[in-house]
Amino acid sequence: MSLEEAIGKAKNLIYESLAYDFTYRPCDSNFSNGYFRTNEYVLGYLKKVDLKLSKYVLTVLASGDQAFSLISEGIKNIDTFDVNALSEYIALGLKRAMILKYDYQAFLDNLFLLTDQKVRIDNDEEMAILSDLLPFMESKYRMFWQTLIDYTTKVQKETGNNRNLIHILDKNDVTNFYNYRKMVNFLKNDAHYQRLRENIGKANITFQEANALNLPNTFRGPYDLVLLSNILDYFDFQWGDHWDYKMLKKYEENLAQIIVDNGVVMLEYVFEYESLATIFDNCYPLIDGSKIVASDLETEELIVLPRYATHTSKDAIILQRKKG
Ligand SMILES: C[S@@+](CC[C@H](N)C(=O)[O-])C[C@H]1O[C@@H](n2cnc3c(N)ncnc32)[C@H](O)[C@@H]1O
Repeated sequence: MSLEEAIGKAKNLIYESLAYDFTYRPCDSNFSNGYFRTNEYVLGYLKKVDLKLSKYVLTVLASGDQAFSLISEGIKNIDTFDVNALSEYIALGLKRAMILKYDYQAFLDNLFLLTDQKVRIDNDEEMAILSDLLPFMESKYRMFWQTLIDYTTKVQKETGNNRNLIHILDKNDVTNFYNYRKMVNFLKNDAHYQRLRENIGKANITFQEANALNLPNTFRGPYDLVLLSNILDYFDFQWGDHWDYKMLKKYEENLAQIIVDNGVVMLEYVFEYESLATIFDNCYPLIDGSKIVASDLETEELIVLPRYATHTSKDAIILQRKKG
């Protein structure tokens, strides 16, 4: 999608939100609200993979938190994809600029101010934070955010609606900020964050608008590691009733074309695995909208993540290792 088209679509989102209090939130659209922070325990699942062997990685972009976590762990070659074109402007535009500009504490403070939905900052304060980031962006991203800053300020005045720009664009209003800090590698502590800042300039990170349904259409790889977040939760839109274990096998076979032998695919992030899947005696679908239950899995590993953040439930991942 061109810069002009992305700006036009972003303006629509902003106008509809400020003039009509309307926010449409489909998760697989080519331009809709995006994630400014992950809702996954990325630090937990990256521990399950030997990152020293992961030289070439393909990951969903979303908030950028998966990619930035990988960079903080020293990975230099990362291809990213997303169906939502806005994710590029969020992650590689805004978030990257925050990493370049801020030290650890300032990054946390400003991300909190911009993205915690319980915080309402003054419109001028928000625009000042965003404007100060513009010099740290590549020109395409600078153009996008500068236009949005100007347009939002105008429409906020016209409509008398002072909803914050980032709150309008943000889809993740769930994750508590205090927990978020402990979910990604690069925010573990000051040293990890410094490693990200040192590595980010040296990393080769690309972005493609692509649908995870057929990644070999767009990417050649071969990759040592592929991270798919919980995208498979949305495949029922295409596959409906056919979304079962057989389809997962076909999907894995197709993806295997771009994976090295012994490469790893993080196929699915399962939210609240313990509270849902185990209580319902393994009848609960592991992947939303599918028929796949835990006892179906033959060659995949189901790894439970003891997510410190919620004491009542545990998350899990479905991992597939390609045989050598
Ligand atoms: C599945 S969503 C959920 C948020 C995620 N758990 C995280 O931590 O960021 C993550 C990203 O996947 C993208 N997405 C959804 N369906 C997709 C698809 N079929 N192909 C590519 N990206 C997709 C969304 O646009 C979003 O940016």
